[in-house]
Amino acid sequence: MSPITLFPEVSADALAVDAVIRKALHSDVALIRQVADYIVLAGGKRLRPVLLLLSARAAGYRGDAHATLAAVIEFIHTATLLHDDVVDESALRRGRRTANAVFGNAASVLVGDFLYSRAFQMMVSVGNMPVLSTLADATNTIAEGEVLQLMHCRDADLDVGRYLQVIRFKTAKLFEAAARIGAQLAGLPPAAEQGMAQFGLHVGTAFQLIDDVLDYSGDESQTGKHLGDDLAEGKATLPLIHTMRHGSPAQAQLVRDAIEHGGRDDLTAIVAAIEATGALDETRRIADREVELAIAALPPLAEPTLRESLIRFAAFSVDRNH
Ligand code: IPE
Ligand code: IPE
Ligand code: MG
Ligand code: MG
Repeated sequence: MSPITLFPEVSADALAVDAVIRKALHSDVALIRQVADYIVLAGGKRLRPVLLLLSARAAGYRGDAHATLAAVIEFIHTATLLHDDVVDESALRRGRRTANAVFGNAASVLVGDFLYSRAFQMMVSVGNMPVLSTLADATNTIAEGEVLQLMHCRDADLDVGRYLQVIRFKTAKLFEAAARIGAQLAGLPPAAEQGMAQFGLHVGTAFQLIDDVLDYSGDESQTGKHLGDDLAEGKATLPLIHTMRHGSPAQAQLVRDAIEHGGRDDLTAIVAAIEATGALDETRRIADREVELAIAALPPLAEPTLRESLIRFAAFSVDRNH
């Protein structure tokens, strides 16, 4: 089930976000409309906007800037996906061919830039300096994360600490921004704002750990993405790092060779090694730990029922198949 359905408490706000998104996609340039509609209206989970809406409402915010900012967060996310699929040479996203597969790499990169810059126009229109600062920092950190990951491509010696840094930068930072913006809109004091930000950071880390699990164990009809994309480009994610550490010398060598050479030729053997060493369970365990840290960081909030929704949101980030 999608987060929008899971969180009816913000469904009216989510509709408002949808309206903002549709309006903001407009451009007189036909190819921009075509590519942007293709990816944005394909129906992502809209997880990050829901996190922002829940955070703002839970913290007691009663205005309406949260809908625009939730759309901004979704645009930034979607721009990273357009770029990420070019870099990762991915062919399937949101259950359909990727924009790069349909329209080519150049169109994907350029429309990604359009979405980023449209997001900047929208956030400026809200005119909240602390929020602008959060979004500027998050966007910059995501770019660092993607480049850091590129540097570690085909690096079989990537350690857990470095891996965690990459996923905090490329993924968790935007979840952190979504939760922090909720706190900033509501005007929470610094310690509570920091607690909300930590909540988002840990939830986002858990979310990416599970994404890395699903890359080896998911059902493509659920995830809407091809299995084995990470292996194909030689990405040393935690399931592989664990398998190299705890598998037999032969299993470790198999994984090392696959990372160093890339490609999905050994996918079946690697999935078998991952399963034999319990690497997916171990990765899930670490994701669960992140959820515990997230919940522990959550400050008391003005709306206790919506605070409970945030806890359910954290649970959903790991308990999912898409
Ligand atoms: C995909 O994010 C990119 C990652 C950070 C793993 P989502 O799984 O939230 O993508 P959509 O928006 O639902 O398609
Ligand atoms: C997602 O990493 C990170 C960003 C989009 C910034 P992945 O490469 O694992 O995401 P998917 O699996 O392609 O969605
Ligand atoms: Mg990718
Ligand atoms: Mg992935």
